[in-house]
Amino acid sequence: MNDRIVFELDEKPVEALPGESIWQVATRLGMEIPHLCHADQPGYRADGNCRACMVEIEGERALAASCIRHPTPGMRVRTASESARFARRMVFELLAGDQPARGRAHDPDSRFWRWADRVGVSDSRFPEREQAPGPDFSHPAMAVQLDACIQCTLCVRACREVQVNDVIGMARRGHDERIVFDFADPMGESSCVACGECVQACPTGALLPKSAMDLAAGRLAAEPERQVDSVCPYCGVGCQLTYNIRDGRLLSVTGRDGPANRNRLCVKGRFGFDYIHHPHRLTRPLVRREGVSKREVDIDPANPLTHFREAGWEEALALAAGGLKAIRDGHGGSALAGFGSAKGSNEEAYLFQKLVRTGFGTNNVDHCTRLCHASSVAALIEGIGSGAVTAPFMAAKDAEVIVVIGSNPTENHPVAATFFKNAVRQGAKLVVMDPRGQALKRHATYMLQFTPGRDVALLNALLNVIITDRLYDAGYVAAHTRDFEELRDHIAPYTPEAMEPLCGIPAAVLREVAWLYAKSRASIIFWGMGVSQHTHGTDNVRCLIALALVTGQIGRPGTGLHPLRGQNNVQGASDAGLIPMMYPDYRPVEDAAARAFYEDLWQTPLDPRRGLTVVEIMDAIHAGRIRGMYIMGENPAMSDPDVEHARDALATLDHLVVQDLFLTETAKYADVVLPASAWPEKTGTATNTNRQVQLGRQALPPPGDARQDLWILNQMARGLGLDWSYGHPREVFAEMTRAMPSLDNITWERLEREGSVTYPSLSPDDPGQEIVFHDGFPTATGRGRLVPADVIPPAEEPDAEFPMVLTTGRQLEHWHTGTMTRRAQVLDDLEPEAVAYLSPADLRRLGSGPGGRVRVTTRRGSIELTARSDHGVPSGLVFIPFCYAEAAANVLTNPKLDPFGKIPEFKFAAARVEAVGEGRQ
Ligand code: SF4
Ligand code: SF4
Ligand code: FES
Repeated sequence: MNDRIVFELDEKPVEALPGESIWQVATRLGMEIPHLCHADQPGYRADGNCRACMVEIEGERALAASCIRHPTPGMRVRTASESARFARRMVFELLAGDQPARGRAHDPDSRFWRWADRVGVSDSRFPEREQAPGPDFSHPAMAVQLDACIQCTLCVRACREVQVNDVIGMARRGHDERIVFDFADPMGESSCVACGECVQACPTGALLPKSAMDLAAGRLAAEPERQVDSVCPYCGVGCQLTYNIRDGRLLSVTGRDGPANRNRLCVKGRFGFDYIHHPHRLTRPLVRREGVSKREVDIDPANPLTHFREAGWEEALALAAGGLKAIRDGHGGSALAGFGSAKGSNEEAYLFQKLVRTGFGTNNVDHCTRLCHASSVAALIEGIGSGAVTAPFMAAKDAEVIVVIGSNPTENHPVAATFFKNAVRQGAKLVVMDPRGQALKRHATYMLQFTPGRDVALLNALLNVIITDRLYDAGYVAAHTRDFEELRDHIAPYTPEAMEPLCGIPAAVLREVAWLYAKSRASIIFWGMGVSQHTHGTDNVRCLIALALVTGQIGRPGTGLHPLRGQNNVQGASDAGLIPMMYPDYRPVEDAAARAFYEDLWQTPLDPRRGLTVVEIMDAIHAGRIRGMYIMGENPAMSDPDVEHARDALATLDHLVVQDLFLTETAKYADVVLPASAWPEKTGTATNTNRQVQLGRQALPPPGDARQDLWILNQMARGLGLDWSYGHPREVFAEMTRAMPSLDNITWERLEREGSVTYPSLSPDDPGQEIVFHDGFPTATGRGRLVPADVIPPAEEPDAEFPMVLTTGRQLEHWHTGTMTRRAQVLDDLEPEAVAYLSPADLRRLGSGPGGRVRVTTRRGSIELTARSDHGVPSGLVFIPFCYAEAAANVLTNPKLDPFGKIPEFKFAAARVEAVGEGRQ
């Protein structure tokens, strides 16, 4: 059936594609029709309220809004008839009269004024509005000046339909109609999550980013001089963005139409960019002053010269590399270790692990993947032969059932969460499983708020129902899995009735959810660190893999397994071999053939023993086995569990080199600090959680004498005796494509041209395979392995002395250890102080209240911080974000490791909470 519609547009026969409006056909064919309330952007529904796009249709008395009118066969449309052009001019003139004249416009170059120019309207014969609403500057990031509002409702659709935050609405009627935030609250006091989608959508400048404004004048201060396309430096979603630059500074950021974000951003990507201009930036190499003990770390990052002296690059590099070389030559390569960064580029990660392996001569190289999804990767490689996702998060749109477990995506992967919410609006059922209530709960069909640490009990009960009630896909199991019988026998005692007391979810609900997941046309599972950061993290993921495999909910559109990766480049850094037991592409270091391959490629003999992981390295320092470290862009003095133990280890090192943007908590222990480049100051690739390899482009030079990380790595390698001369990241990427078959068919030139390519890519013009494993797995047998899991209690159960459970994580506004976000003005204004989230009941019991001070103590230590009341936190639980140096949550966390993934139990520690000082009830 041909469902194309032939009609006439400006006297020429044209074809409309299915679903296209007249406006879309005209625009596709290069014709120009003004539009204001219609955003020609993914996710935006045409509304047809402004009439800026009117066209004439033969035989109809009234003009038609082309953005909502669909052509019919034989229809004759005139876009530029005199009556259409006259009517459109009149619309613009009326709307121009409804806002400040262009000379006083908040944004004289807004989409409205640019279209007004094109239709020939420069001012208005109509009187200005008499009672225009006053400005609202209450939000740290955005200015609201509704005297320029034309009630186009784009911001309402941006907020309600695109990002699904439901903050902005229209209130009042007729002449008084206006947009409002919540119940007509000031924006800064509303429930706005500052995604800035409304600012990006607004066609008039009624909503503007404050960072680009002269606030006193209420208008944009200046237009950007230039724009550079890049990728967000924060989370694994990998939103593409554009840096707007003026006078050598980032002015603002706008979202781009990347495959993972479709123009959307969250508060961090849009407003968290000015950390690169922060006065704390390191601009000269630093060398620890003679006689200053490594235990003296009470250093103001604004003034490191109390403990360090400035040095030239030549001296700093000689000291940095020389110290490491002396240890290598005196004690062997295994006395050294390196932490690379998931915040840098793929090229930097690749070079860093190569430097450790070939320059130090050890596999003691790791990064923060050990602290986030190491257990997920261990279970995935064991079960399905690949550590990456089987489908992108956009696959949620094709799912009938979406399971989100141990993840709070509205805070940690906010743009991914918008696509989950979009899918629910389209009819998908959402099942959220988490000990903490969260914003997604509002969109969920089931919210299973289970007992902390009892993930396996919950998941085994689901598996029990699926197998007992014969909901599994016997054909898929027979064709594509192994060890089903062992799983079936193992799972028999884990009935929902037996698990209910353990996991806290009624047996009937467990049955309903098992049926829902198994019997749906397409079910997909997303998980986060609530699953992985346990001593039984690998077991948790084994259960998720088993759920997908026994039901065949994998390898098809809308199905799959997706660990939502944390850092912007944690996937790429892991792929590039920044892990102690694997070379690039996860080839085991103990595998002789793999080793021979890399020895040949790198022309160096390699250490055949697997290296130590993040936490093991700290223990090895205490044991005197590791004496020197090179840390590039990681902050273990904040991110490690039982962080005082890690800090003590860092202070013990004979030689520590830290390469970073700021004097981080870790850099305070350094002998030499090398000032590095921030993401907007470099060109390189990063791989997001969807396996999309994306190109970030340099927008600005590093400040002062700070240098590109790639250059520093080169110099360090040469100092260690390696003959390196990488000049540009493209040269490193070219070598990576030889070292990593996963990058087959992906070239630097392609990335420059296409911006993003998903791996695996099967040919030079294949955009990449988003959904993998539809006909088997890259395991030795080609089958997925079902690995049963027992219910293992957390390493440390609450008791009389420590009766509560501490869990840690991130907040929307702050990233990881806060090094960047706490130096981004808007983000720090939004969340300025260390907080502990407690249930209202526990706060009452403690005799405290929101804003009161509490002391949280575990067997490792104690911190004091401000209490926040949170109805989503169950009684008996306390949640603390780990980004606050002044009350470092990781002073409290348990370093006990998962035996497989070697990930610590960040999500569970026995704790005591006490009120201190006066609570503000
Ligand atoms: S504030 Fe801007 S986007 Fe929102 S209705 Fe007014 S003009 Fe449209
Ligand atoms: S969702 Fe992640 S990648 Fe996207 S803007 Fe936010 S922090 Fe950046
Ligand atoms: S753009 Fe079509 S009615 Fe507004």
